[in-house]
Amino acid sequence: MTEIDNARLVAKFPADFVWGVATSSFQIEGGARSDGKGLSIWDTFCAVPGAIADHSNADIACDHYHRWESDLDLIAGLGVNAYRFSVSWPRVRPSGSGNWNVKGLDFYDRLVDGLLHRGMQPYLTLNHWDLPAELQALGGWAARDTVHRFVEYALGLQARLGDRVASITTHNEPWVMATLGHETGVFAPGIQDRAQAAQVSHHLLLSHGLVLQALRAQGSSAKLGIVLNLAPIYPATESAADRAKARLEDGRLLRWYMDPLFHAQYPSDVLEFLGSDAPRVELGDMQAIAQPMDFLGINYYSRTVVSAGGDWDVHQGGLDITDMGWEIYPQGLTELLVRLHRDYPVPPLYVTENGGAFKDELLAGRVHDAQRTRYIYSHIEAVAAAMAAGVPMAGYMVWSLLDNFEWASGYAKRFGIFRVEYETQARIPKDSALWYRDFLSAQKAHRGGLRSLSKPAPKPAQMAITGA
Ligand code: FCB
Repeated sequence: MTEIDNARLVAKFPADFVWGVATSSFQIEGGARSDGKGLSIWDTFCAVPGAIADHSNADIACDHYHRWESDLDLIAGLGVNAYRFSVSWPRVRPSGSGNWNVKGLDFYDRLVDGLLHRGMQPYLTLNHWDLPAELQALGGWAARDTVHRFVEYALGLQARLGDRVASITTHNEPWVMATLGHETGVFAPGIQDRAQAAQVSHHLLLSHGLVLQALRAQGSSAKLGIVLNLAPIYPATESAADRAKARLEDGRLLRWYMDPLFHAQYPSDVLEFLGSDAPRVELGDMQAIAQPMDFLGINYYSRTVVSAGGDWDVHQGGLDITDMGWEIYPQGLTELLVRLHRDYPVPPLYVTENGGAFKDELLAGRVHDAQRTRYIYSHIEAVAAAMAAGVPMAGYMVWSLLDNFEWASGYAKRFGIFRVEYETQARIPKDSALWYRDFLSAQKAHRGGLRSLSKPAPKPAQMAITGA
């Protein structure tokens, strides 16, 4: 079992390391129809019978759209120096093209100013999956036109917020949008078509590259990059068939994204595997994708084990797993980061999401989520190990600030370091939040203060126990 030793762990990180928490628009904002917001593909997907495990939707979610100020106070109380959030495209441009929604833009304007005022750097993600539903009706990410609508959207946000955000991520987890959204269909828009999924992945990558070019042409001052969900993939046995399967899955998850981003080409084994389902690529696309990046974000939750004979059962062998059924495997994070650094000319790396869902219990106003604290601690240790091996790590962000709408799992899975009581919208810091706060304050004490933009975080005793 992981032994928590903050003093030992803080000593392994430099003063300018970025510590944060992450959320996404659809999962926390609510206000689904407030102030002129358009619908996203997730709003419509939630209405499909059986799509969401608990039959819920995100119309209200954590009501962050109305509670953003007190939520920013909670974040500041942790002592983080960065907050990773995403913008809802249909909130700021309801149809995905045409008119902009000034009230939606104003919301993010206030959010960004609120972060800066509290001494935190805004890390903005343009696309965390909530594509305007009207664009889906025109073909969504499978249509090449959506690429150009995305560039317009990015330029619109740059014009409004670009002077104040520290970082802009084009896409969060393109593999999830392409594969879970268009091949297995378990996520919005719920399509099951392998060729379409491959085309979607190409358009996501292409739009990433074109956005980087367009933002730089406008003199963007923010650090620009993308966030990928990656994991090391192990064969269940050393058999040739299992090893071949692991190599292919590594191609489909990791090399399919890393190779075009860093080498301007798709991996030949995956192209061969896809055959006639491979994406249509136009002249110049691959060069456009491979823009230099200022950072690469990695979302890491678990490793993957595959067997040629079918799915490997994570429950076998008494492994330590989270409430998502995901194996807790921090050494996989070190291994992944070291491999990325070895195989690709990577820019500074951030772990942009990492955390766990656990069956929390509220006892006398407290949540003693020791497993989550150990999960986070052990993965921060894994980041330190990667740094010691020479990997250029720049930051780490916990997923997530709040319990929230966990996509197809609805509200049944809780990832927050703050508990949300959905009936009252009260926020309750779990023990993991209190630990993260203490860890960050130990970090500050050790280094004589992290580079933060302004005010120090409130003292521990001032941190509200029931939040808003
Ligand atoms: C990631 C998503 C994030 C959250 C976590 C648990 O794939 O980016 O929104 O759902 O998983």
